[in-house]
Amino acid sequence: MNIQAASRHTPQPAPEVGQPVTRNANAHHELSIRVRDLSLWYGETQALNKLNIDIYQKNVTALIGPSGCGKSTFLRCLNRMNDLIPGVSIRGLVEMDGRDVNAVKMDEVALRRRVGMVFQKPNPFPKSIYENVAYAPRMHDLVSRKSEQDELVEHALREAGLWNEVKDKLHQPGTSLSGGQQQRLCIARAIAVQPDVILMDEPTSALDPISTATIEDLMDKLKKQFTIITVTHNMQQAARVADYTAFFHLGEIIEYNDTQMMFSSPATKKAEDYITGRYG
Ligand SMILES: Nc1ncnc2c1ncn2[C@@H]1O[C@H](COP(=O)(O)OP(=O)(O)OP(=O)(O)O)[C@@H](O)[C@H]1O
Ligand SMILES: [Mg+2]
Repeated sequence: MNIQAASRHTPQPAPEVGQPVTRNANAHHELSIRVRDLSLWYGETQALNKLNIDIYQKNVTALIGPSGCGKSTFLRCLNRMNDLIPGVSIRGLVEMDGRDVNAVKMDEVALRRRVGMVFQKPNPFPKSIYENVAYAPRMHDLVSRKSEQDELVEHALREAGLWNEVKDKLHQPGTSLSGGQQQRLCIARAIAVQPDVILMDEPTSALDPISTATIEDLMDKLKKQFTIITVTHNMQQAARVADYTAFFHLGEIIEYNDTQMMFSSPATKKAEDYITGRYG
């Protein structure tokens, strides 16, 4: 899809809280994550302001918006990674499959198993390719026998589109791979524990165009099994891979819309200005 310079924004009736302005007829609409009035402060400084969004299963949802608008902060709220940052306070609701992620009784280890994460810079463990994939499933007791572990490693590497490139060197260090291969190794590592959701924070921004295209194809394939939420500064990428797109600005979600509508006929002036390059 080409990104057209939208000349005007389309006035629309206000959507229900948390729902996209326009529904995407091809998308799935079973709820995965429900966010209501989510605010976050780093010390005294507010970084997220009353976010509301329903994220649906087995789609790709892209988060876009200028630097510093809270995209990474929001992603980290979904697997409680902000808990690791001192001075953070959070108010509001994040529910995953109907369960409050921030509830005291929520098991954080189990949560992070269900919500995998892939970062901007590929970060394989300083271990072999094999161990990068096998480690977490072993920790979570998903495999008991060596043969099961071998099968799981092969399966995850195949799913990540990396198997053919590494099958003869599984015991070489993960860091010996190229950047694009390392990122696919990180994706294999994330999917090896069979999560429900995969968070990707600018997963291709450190990669060349060919590796980027490979990861985009992979996202399209993986969304059949997983709910993918990805941050990108690349508007073409959002337009290519995402079913839904949320535009963030100064800690708020300004517009959440069907991706095609977001890029052809945005409902808000701020999203239009950002998408057409007049802002940010
Ligand atoms: N660990 C932290 N401690 C204090 N402030 C932080 C921390 N992380 C982020 N912030 C602040 O919160 C705001 C949102 O940052 P965040 O990293 O979520 O933005 P972003 O949209 O991901 O930006 P980018 O596109 O540059 O990655 C910024 O003002 C940032 O300075
Ligand atoms: Mg960020």
